[in-house]
Amino acid sequence: MICISTPSPTVAGTTAKPFSSSFTTTSPTFSWPLFSKNFNNHAINSHKVSCNINVGSSHNNFVNNVDRRDVLLGLGGLTGVVSLTSVPSVGAAPLAAPDISKCGTTALTGFKPGEGTPTGGDCCPPDSSKIMDFQFPKVKTFKVRPAAHLLSTKYIAKFNEAIKRMKELPDDDPRSFKQQAHIHCAYCNGAYTQSSSGFPDVEIQIHNSWLFFPFHRWYLYFYERILGSLIDDPTFALPFWNWDTPAGMTIPKFFNDPKSAIFDSKRNQNHLTAVVDLGYNGADSNTTDIEKVKNNLAIMYRQMVSNATDGTSFFGGEYRAGIEPISGGGSVEQSPHTPVHRWVGDPRETNGEDLGNFYSAGRDTLFYCHHSNVDRMWSLWKMLGGKHKDLTDPDWLNTSFVFYDENKNLVRVYVKDSLLTTQLGYDYQRVDVPWLNSKPVPRAPGSGIVNKLIGKVKKTDEVNFPVKLDKIVKVLVKRPGKSRSKKAKEEKEEILIIKGITYDSEKYVKFDVFVNDEDDDVSAPDQTEFAGSFAQLPHKHKGKSSSKTNFRAGLTELLEELEADDDDYVLVTVVPRSGTEDLTIDAIKISFA
Ligand code: C2O
Repeated sequence: MICISTPSPTVAGTTAKPFSSSFTTTSPTFSWPLFSKNFNNHAINSHKVSCNINVGSSHNNFVNNVDRRDVLLGLGGLTGVVSLTSVPSVGAAPLAAPDISKCGTTALTGFKPGEGTPTGGDCCPPDSSKIMDFQFPKVKTFKVRPAAHLLSTKYIAKFNEAIKRMKELPDDDPRSFKQQAHIHCAYCNGAYTQSSSGFPDVEIQIHNSWLFFPFHRWYLYFYERILGSLIDDPTFALPFWNWDTPAGMTIPKFFNDPKSAIFDSKRNQNHLTAVVDLGYNGADSNTTDIEKVKNNLAIMYRQMVSNATDGTSFFGGEYRAGIEPISGGGSVEQSPHTPVHRWVGDPRETNGEDLGNFYSAGRDTLFYCHHSNVDRMWSLWKMLGGKHKDLTDPDWLNTSFVFYDENKNLVRVYVKDSLLTTQLGYDYQRVDVPWLNSKPVPRAPGSGIVNKLIGKVKKTDEVNFPVKLDKIVKVLVKRPGKSRSKKAKEEKEEILIIKGITYDSEKYVKFDVFVNDEDDDVSAPDQTEFAGSFAQLPHKHKGKSSSKTNFRAGLTELLEELEADDDDYVLVTVVPRSGTEDLTIDAIKISFA
């Protein structure tokens, strides 16, 4: 089911109105042109939403438009199908929500803390013995998350007031600004173990796997409800930092007002009004603003389109009870999500606080607007159709988390209930999506280029793995097949996999990957040869300072564009960008997936 929100002709300055009863059954199923090329961004502040559902009378349209499997899996808040909300048994494969009464100190004890680090590394929420299972809101009010750079003064004032009230709550109130920020720290710095899944010695980590999108969706969902309730406005919707469109590529201005509650002093002072670098390497480059914008759009295309051709590439790899997330983060999580964190984080702080380090990221209000846009990417990606579908693995769908709601109730939520924003009562303002037309262009296309390198550049079986990334690594990787039919390509993507990346998890780590780029001066992101980036934000684990994971990039479209589809090998160049001195790689492979 797709809801399309269209700009209402009313004048800017008003906020998104509730449109409880304005659902219609007339809108067509989504198709690309609905990303309205001629959209007048500046005139929008109120919206009309049309959905192919008719709430209140018949739900048949909804049912017809939802994958039947999803309904069976309990996606049906609006359909009346009951969710599978039983408590997972010990040792069950999906990760069960943490037992917050067992929340421990984080790995941050002994970490060189920035000012205001939780005392003794403690990020734990107030305890509660009562857990409620999540119920879908009865969609009486519908929220439209607006683009932050297009907000009216009135909306900014409302957002500011809500944050101010949140900051005024006592620290031990689970809705307080501090407790809300701690959620992020608790779920990613080792405060929670998998004890409820039967693995008390294994930490919970919600980054670097298929839990990234659903965890953050739920986090923001409750954050937004709390803010709305504090200003008594159930229509309040969290703005999104629209960094994927040129006009949104700076920190939205109102974040820079030191008098506002939204302000955070711990941000990179050189970036307050600068064009964001979605591929940030940990230091400023000397590219011009125009080049940056071009590169940003190309990075968006790369990560949302050619590197996200299937669920695993987009969401990240599996993460089940009893293990750590080692299979690899999804395309958007790695970039632009991670570089944006680091680009905003303050280099004057020991650990890049606030946004530049996981434990402190939730202390910057910009975090929530950044993640609102990340969450929007999930919605946009699904609109691409075809294989762009939510995962169906029951262990993903049945993973649970707990959050406090606006009434201070501890609520257990499941991934399977997070798949449709419209079911959760919100959607995103429709703005232009310029990166869809920003496919990178080849720098040096040509069939057989790579053949000439055989004998000059080592093949993978001539390399002693693991290799260290203390300098550029160049290698010829054999393809499992070539010159495939269109049908074969549609069925399976050719994927470059960099396996067993062991890296220092206390550093900002980034490397870029290029294919068939012979030059030592490698291509820019707006060139086809640029295949993608691996990026990790610093985060402290208990008892160890390194992590292991994988990286993948889609090759089918790239090799076609580079006219290299008949070649036997691909030249892969891995270029260290930040914190890779000790990074090692176990293997580089190409496979069909
Ligand atoms: Cu939980 Cu942007 O990170």
